[in-house]
Amino acid sequence: MRVLKTVKQVVEWRISNINTRTQSSGFVPTMGCLHEGHVSLIRASKNENEFTIVSIFVNPSQFAPSEDLDKYPRTLQNDLELLEAEGVDVCFLPSAQEIYPQGIPLDVKEQRGPFVSVLGVSEQLEGRTRPNFFRGVATVVTKLLNVVLPTHAYFGQKDFQQFTVLKVMTEELFMNTKIKMMPIVRGSKGLALSSRNRYLCAESRDISKAIYQGLTAAASVIQTLEPGAQTSRSELLGKIHAVWAPHVTAGDFTVDYVSVAHFRSLEELEYVSRTNDVVISCAVYVQDREDKTTKVRLIDNVVLTDE
Ligand code: PAJ
Repeated sequence: MRVLKTVKQVVEWRISNINTRTQSSGFVPTMGCLHEGHVSLIRASKNENEFTIVSIFVNPSQFAPSEDLDKYPRTLQNDLELLEAEGVDVCFLPSAQEIYPQGIPLDVKEQRGPFVSVLGVSEQLEGRTRPNFFRGVATVVTKLLNVVLPTHAYFGQKDFQQFTVLKVMTEELFMNTKIKMMPIVRGSKGLALSSRNRYLCAESRDISKAIYQGLTAAASVIQTLEPGAQTSRSELLGKIHAVWAPHVTAGDFTVDYVSVAHFRSLEELEYVSRTNDVVISCAVYVQDREDKTTKVRLIDNVVLTDE
């Protein structure tokens, strides 16, 4: 595997190794601290393309000043070994200076240079709690795609809204990369794998499995509806909260949002039938039981669609 740190090196590698008329290339952007969720994207890319390129870059422009940029877990040596073992062709490991030559101060008002905003689908859900998050994601993914120029890029359903924003961006900016969404990889008890799970002690991680159990309780209401019948948003939210309530009461969970929305527009739905394309998603702060100063924000979702 080649580990390349500059844009120039990646461009040169691409030009001299990929015959773009006959060969496909898959790209998996990551922020490192790789786990089985990332590996599933890499394997999908390996299966479907001649070349696979993975980037590891903790993108400063998608963190707010109050968030965990400095604390974000970094496990570079393990990550590189994992990528090598998976047979990845190139790991792009740029510095912040390489991606943002004008610098990237955390204060958004001081930032300079080009940024990409996807209005509409960036604003609700994650966008409400993290106002500049999707601008940072859309900007870095545009830059990375422009360097790598892959035929395909792979993203996880775990970050469903991120996928939606990037799908709209690549399609409406007529970018030459087809983006693909892969299913959420979960631990044995259902908790979605996330680099942030490691901040929680074993007991709190175990409690966090209830996040997904709440979502599946709502999903099964929709799945068992008679054809033509509908359920209401409040019934679905009631099912979720019934599962979460003991943990909210115990102080383990603080709910940031729960959403029942159309899976493309992300518009909230008042009523849902079995034929609706719906995404039930949430963000929950989990209070660590061992270290009371630690609160971790976890996201999860369930998608019901025939698409
Ligand atoms: P990161 O959190 O490292 O995730 C990289 C990719 O792995 C994303 O597409 C994410 O959805 C996917 N992923 C994470 N956990 C997963 C799981 N449990 N199952 C399946 N896929 C999972 O998302 C980012 O980085 C950044 O925002 C990035 C797109 C790299 C831009 O900076």
